[in-house]
Amino acid sequence: MNCQLTDEEYALVLDFKRDMHMYPELSRQEYETTKKIRAFLEAAGGFEFLPVPAPTGLVARLTGTLKGPEIMLRADIDALPQSEVFESPWKSRVPNVMHACGHDFHTAALLGAALCLKRAKAESLLRGSVDFVFQPAEEGTTGARTLIDAGLFDFIHPEACFGMHNWPSLTTGTVACHEGALMSAKRNFEILIHGSGGHGSMPHLNIDPIVCSSALIMALQTVVSRNISPMENVVLSINMIEGGRPANVVADLVTIKGTVRSLSDAALDRAIDRVKTLVENTALAYECTSEIHWEERIPTVFNTARMRAIAEKCALAAGCQLTDAVPSLASEDFALYRQFAPAFFYWVGSTAPGDAPEDLHRPAFHTDDAALYHAAAIYAASVMEYHD
Ligand code: NI
Repeated sequence: MNCQLTDEEYALVLDFKRDMHMYPELSRQEYETTKKIRAFLEAAGGFEFLPVPAPTGLVARLTGTLKGPEIMLRADIDALPQSEVFESPWKSRVPNVMHACGHDFHTAALLGAALCLKRAKAESLLRGSVDFVFQPAEEGTTGARTLIDAGLFDFIHPEACFGMHNWPSLTTGTVACHEGALMSAKRNFEILIHGSGGHGSMPHLNIDPIVCSSALIMALQTVVSRNISPMENVVLSINMIEGGRPANVVADLVTIKGTVRSLSDAALDRAIDRVKTLVENTALAYECTSEIHWEERIPTVFNTARMRAIAEKCALAAGCQLTDAVPSLASEDFALYRQFAPAFFYWVGSTAPGDAPEDLHRPAFHTDDAALYHAAAIYAASVMEYHD
């Protein structure tokens, strides 16, 4: 089976990508995008829509005529609160919202694979079934959890899951099939330091959470440098601090937000333990009280050797050139699906040869249209060529 899009399929998918790019929607607001995906698949015909009760996003199934495995393919569909500066006729028409992470590219590629696999079914070549998961709210890494909690895995029982991200540092036509941890485990946190405010001229009668927070933030810098092996990759960043009122009043409360990440689950555990200890005891030392609120832990995107071998075969069958890439401390909630089935995550080259790479989440970010051919073929080949 040739997993390449036909010219006609490519034209449909490119139109979809351009329209989605012009009308981006933020996480959890992807209502029109969801309708457009559904309309595209309805127009193609032959897809069953699974009633997973999530407000946005969509799960569709295509069932082959031959016996075979059930495979899940996932694309994310949300955009970011940024203003696009890259000039094209398809520049975002929504103020301060843009597809700065290329989720329009992923969605269009998965729709392309849907057309290709439908063609395979018509030729009596499609074995088993395919679950097309169009996931909302990947930015902020909460959308996979929404679908899982909505019972996604009561509706589908895949033998394997495949996902991808466009990767600007790779050229169109190349794909990274990395073995091991590819993207970071992460835990975001919010720390509250409670003191007792009062007149700034009488600090001895108050408990100052700003002084405590200053000491805490400095102490937290020692987690990576003093508690984690230099051979491990851990990042701990404090990215927000807020507290206090006028210049002559001691604050009551300081709020601190940050993130801790690692490619190693054990190193992340150690860092989280140290954060807890430092927060509790620094607060105590400065006569404050503390609270920590942890967001859900996102595990690493981890590609096993077995899945890597399968994925490489699929990527080669899709006509791509294989490469490797340095793992990233960015996180991806595709990682959560690994609890339910063996999963593989590709990084797909998305910068045209000769074009300067523009990083994800930057206002001039863009993806090479021609890379859609490769991305769609990789998704489709992950079904057609899937076997141990
Ligand atoms: Ni993304």
